[in-house]
Amino acid sequence: MSDREYFADLKKIYVTEALGASIYDSMVGKMAACGLRDVYVKLGANERRMMALVDTELRKLGIEVPELKKNMTVAVMSALFRITPLVMQQRLLSHVAKKKIFGRWYALHHQQNEELWGILLEHERLQYGVLVGPRSADGEQREPP
Ligand SMILES: [Fe+2]
Repeated sequence: MSDREYFADLKKIYVTEALGASIYDSMVGKMAACGLRDVYVKLGANERRMMALVDTELRKLGIEVPELKKNMTVAVMSALFRITPLVMQQRLLSHVAKKKIFGRWYALHHQQNEELWGILLEHERLQYGVLVGPRSADGEQREPP
C-alpha cells in the first residue's frame, strides 16, 4: 500500500464523514424531538469528530484537506438529502453501514496510525450497531430503526 493510496483513502474518509454529517443533519431536521432524533444528533456529531481527526492526520502528513465548499458530490448530495424522505435515508444509511468500508481500509492502513484507525473502526462498529442492529442468534439482521 503506497502513501499515495493512503492519502487518497484519508481524503475519501473525510468526504464520507462530511456526507454522513449532512445526512444526519437533514434527518434531524425532519424529526420532532424524540429519543431517535437524539441518536441522530449524536451520530452527526460523531461524523464531525471523525472529520476533525482525519483533518489532523492529513495536516500532519502535509496533505491538503479536501475543500468541501468546492466538492460537487457533497453539494449535490446535501441538496438531495434535504428532499429525501426519512425512511429512505434510514435505509441508505443501513445499506452503507453493511458495507463496513472502514473495516476493509483498517486492514490496509492501520499500521500508519493505530490510534486513528482504531477510532475509525470503533466509529464504524458503533454506527453498524445503531443502524443495522446486533446480530441475533441465527445471524439474521434486524431492520434498521
Ligand atoms: Fe462516519
